[in-house]
Amino acid sequence: MALPLAGKHCAVVGATGIIGFSIAKAFAQQGAVLTLLARSAAEARPRLEPQLRPYSLPGTTTTTTTTKDTGDFGVPAAHRFIPLDVADRESIKAIFGARGSSSKPQTGTAVGPIDVLVNCAGITQTSLLMRTSDEHLSDIVDTNLLATILVCKHAKMRPNGCIINVSSLMGTKGGLGATAYAASKAGVIGFTRALCREMASRSIRVNALLPGWVNSSMWTDLKPEIKQAFLKDTPLNRVAEPAEVADAALFLASNGFANNCVLNLDGGLSAA
Ligand SMILES: NC(=O)c1ccc[n+]([C@@H]2O[C@H](COP(=O)([O-])OP(=O)(O)OC[C@H]3O[C@@H](n4cnc5c(N)ncnc54)[C@H](OP(=O)(O)O)[C@@H]3O)[C@@H](O)[C@H]2O)c1
Repeated sequence: MALPLAGKHCAVVGATGIIGFSIAKAFAQQGAVLTLLARSAAEARPRLEPQLRPYSLPGTTTTTTTTKDTGDFGVPAAHRFIPLDVADRESIKAIFGARGSSSKPQTGTAVGPIDVLVNCAGITQTSLLMRTSDEHLSDIVDTNLLATILVCKHAKMRPNGCIINVSSLMGTKGGLGATAYAASKAGVIGFTRALCREMASRSIRVNALLPGWVNSSMWTDLKPEIKQAFLKDTPLNRVAEPAEVADAALFLASNGFANNCVLNLDGGLSAA
């Protein structure tokens, strides 16, 4: 039986992170060929690539490990790791290779046509508004929200494709020390809903995923008393494993009727 993402080209921005890589790994497991993007993509490659199921062309048993590009309008022949700093707007435009862009890069560094795009790059905030520098506030909004908007603008999505924007429960629920973060993630939800209307003519589905706390550095870096308070408010009394978030992303990517889904995955914390 064909795997649900067999032959699909999936691009994950923020793929070196704990959640982004879990999603990339789950998609590769289901037959996809991956483009993994992040600032440290090249350095992380030796560690991450062996964990990905090698890509094989649908209908064959031939797995490919060479990073060969089949051209601007083809599907990559193997998983690729492409360095990208989403703070650099010109790089987003160049790497996603928007048609007609004067800054189109050499074949091999362009992402090319995409079936599933995951926007998962994010930075956090753990300080009260008055104690957060203007520069950090701007970085949070630029990385979490503006970059998501620009990547979606410049990505060459194939008809019937799917975009998954990783937001956060904080986008719908307050959180101490997370003002700009919450605003950026709320923005991602609003953007997702509006983009869903604009992508309708090409049957591209657009969804947002809202994890609560996930077993990651964002969680482990919290003070013990803050963790205790969150756990007390979470009916399941635990945080999510990254693989559980990846499973939700797989649902959004593979269920053809999932569109404008704003999917909470928070163990019930949103009910508190
Ligand atoms: N962990 C949680 O509890 C939790 C809960 C809800 C939502 N989320 C959201 O889930 C997403 C992933 O979180 P995570 O826990 O996996 O965080 P993480 O491990 O810190 O990963 C963050 C990812 O974003 C990338 N990134 C950051 N700044 C970037 C930039 N300027 N350009 C390109 N890539 C950049 C990082 O790669 P490089 O450093 O290599 O660039 C990394 O791949 C974030 O959007 C976060 O807000 C997380």
